Amino acid sequence: MFKTLVTGAAFALALVPAAAFAAGGEAHVEDFAFSFEGPFGTYDQNQLQRGLQIYTEVCSACHGLKQVPIRTLSDEGGPGLPADQVRAYAADNFEVFDAEDDDFRPAEPTDHFPENDGVGAPDLSLMAKSRAGFHGPYGLGINQMIKGMGGAEYIASLLTGYTGETKDEAGTTFYENHAFPGGWISMAPPLSDEQVEFVDGHSNDLHHLAQDVSAFLMWTAEPKMMARKQAGFVGVLFLAVLSVLLYLTNKRLWAPHKGKKTS
Ligand code: HEC
Repeated sequence: MFKTLVTGAAFALALVPAAAFAAGGEAHVEDFAFSFEGPFGTYDQNQLQRGLQIYTEVCSACHGLKQVPIRTLSDEGGPGLPADQVRAYAADNFEVFDAEDDDFRPAEPTDHFPENDGVGAPDLSLMAKSRAGFHGPYGLGINQMIKGMGGAEYIASLLTGYTGETKDEAGTTFYENHAFPGGWISMAPPLSDEQVEFVDGHSNDLHHLAQDVSAFLMWTAEPKMMARKQAGFVGVLFLAVLSVLLYLTNKRLWAPHKGKKTS
């Protein structure tokens, strides 16, 4: 009895990584080239502004961004909108419930983006960090060290990964999608070619739109990415200088003892 339990548990444990790998292997995530990749990568301000527009015109109908304060839209390293534009953007697009007045009022920069749980769509504030685009090989995660976690790639692949097939199950329509684990998602394809127009006439085919909104969602999830990379770089530089100084000090200290070798 005990033995069967043990073998059963061992068998179940052995199955877990295999199942995880199967799920990861099934989904296809494309390796998009984002400006913020690599140790010196930075957000592209224009791309973040386009992404904000796409989120506002399309995704915000179903998805909230409740962790993101609207005022951060003017942060350096982010979309970098001037303060008056942020004020106008907040008032034009969102309403928040004011408990004091017991009524709705236009949003202000000090408010957060509203939450939106109307149709059961998850909040997107941290989505780019809560999904990994790259796995494996064999559950080792080596791809993540080379290509990054791939949260933004996952979202872009999801938005471009629809096959056009649908199925109805228990009164819900599911859409076949190459990037979604399991292959069927209940979100209808939200983006299509030329759905959003940019004032500067920037290309707006599905691929570009998907990439722009994914870059924006990477920023909402990690607004301080550039500061973090800079701090890391300064740290490495500091350690390098320190190593050189320590090496020279060490040489100097030992010089009298080493130099006496005459024979
Ligand atoms: C009509 C409503 C609707 C719109 C518009 C919409 N979504 Fe969704 N979205 C959903 C629903 C519902 C889900 C949950 C789907 C599921 O789990 O099957 C979802 C899930 C997601 C997920 C999570 C997938 C996962 O791995 O769990 C992401 C990312 C996402 N949407 C991004 C977007 C983006 C970006 C836009 C705008 C371009 C957008 N959505 C527009 C309804 C919508």
